Amino acid sequence: MKIIVKEDYTEMSDVALRLFLDAFGRSKVIGFATGKTPLKLYSSISEACLSGEISFKGKISFNLDEYWGIEKDDPRSFREYMEAHLFRQIDIYRNEIHFPECSGDPDAAASKYRSEIRRFGPVDFQILGIGANGHIGFNEPGSGLSSETRVVKLSESTIKANKPPSERAITMGIKEILGSKEIMVMASGRGKRDALCKALQENPSEDVPASFLQYHSNLTVVADAEAAELL
Ligand code: GLP
Repeated sequence: MKIIVKEDYTEMSDVALRLFLDAFGRSKVIGFATGKTPLKLYSSISEACLSGEISFKGKISFNLDEYWGIEKDDPRSFREYMEAHLFRQIDIYRNEIHFPECSGDPDAAASKYRSEIRRFGPVDFQILGIGANGHIGFNEPGSGLSSETRVVKLSESTIKANKPPSERAITMGIKEILGSKEIMVMASGRGKRDALCKALQENPSEDVPASFLQYHSNLTVVADAEAAELL
């Protein structure tokens, strides 16, 4: 595991961009996360694409999760969030953007996304954030190492933090996230310091799902000084 700590959010996002661009050429399938943390990275990626430095033609994207039971074009959906902050600005082919179904039969939706990941994956380069309670994607505390894409109930702390449009979500499982070839975790701000410390320094356990990332052989953590304070 490699841990890179930078003074602030801007410097941290610049390093994340450099790592992303380094991996870009060897990465066909790219895993994206929502949340505020990667926003600066996404705007820099958009600029790199607009200036012609990189192109997403031929790339495939997979997002980690989506709120359950909402419309795809609901402004509160993760799909819309990604459209607004990245996908509308880059030249990725629209049919190469993958999101889990977020309505209908939960088991069928989960199984459909699992097979899409199997068919096009594994993800070459996965961008991850971390929840203040140690979640990754929406694998909340209690999620096991072998958990797969499924519909989950959000924890009380996530509901409080995210004020989501639904109390359920569909998320890639820990197993699929760990199946990515390379993972870059981003963490910024004091609110993440406990989660990051437990995730990286305590024995892996279901209490802190991000701690299972310790089992990954190609993991880079990019944090700002506040998030890394307890490391
Ligand atoms: C969200 C998402 C995660 C994200 C995390 C952190 O709820 N499901 O994929 O990484 O919470 O979000 P933020 O970057 O806003 O702190």
